[in-house]
Amino acid sequence: MSATNQLRADHDQVKRLEKIVFKCSDELKQGTDIPFSDLTKITIVISEFVDTIHHSREEDFYFPCVASHESLKDEIHRFLVEHEFGRNVARLISRHLKLWKTGSDEREPVSRYLKAYGVFLKDHLHKENKFFDDAEAQVLTKQEESEMYEEYKSVFAIVKKAEDMILEIDSLESCSWYQK
Ligand SMILES: [Fe+2]
Ligand SMILES: [Fe+2]
Repeated sequence: MSATNQLRADHDQVKRLEKIVFKCSDELKQGTDIPFSDLTKITIVISEFVDTIHHSREEDFYFPCVASHESLKDEIHRFLVEHEFGRNVARLISRHLKLWKTGSDEREPVSRYLKAYGVFLKDHLHKENKFFDDAEAQVLTKQEESEMYEEYKSVFAIVKKAEDMILEIDSLESCSWYQK
């Protein structure tokens, strides 16, 4: 396994989340009852899997390594800005969900920000996949690929957390509102 392939594998999971997020936004818009526990689970997967695990693998290891070759710096800068945008949208989802739980009707903003998050993921993953192809083919050495991969695997707590988050994605896909 290489670092690039690990990030592609992360993207496969994030793609599943993207589908869940779009479906959830649509169902909320149509008035479907979605339990707060499922909405909370979505915000947890976003914050733990996308932000804490996946974006850290990119921001703390992969991007700096590619940039150290004086390569693809504009793309990396754009991705960092997009990560920040994603974090802001995720914060808005959580904020409105919290208000909703205290009694205010926040169905519309939660649906709207979920959709915005889905659009962000779709566009961002598409561009990054192309970037991974370029970095793999033209920039990173085999040794860097395997060293970064070992780094990813070395933090047991993170690997375990990623596995847990994939189980949460499985459970969201099995919800009746998702399967409608
Ligand atoms: Fe990213
Ligand atoms: Fe990514």
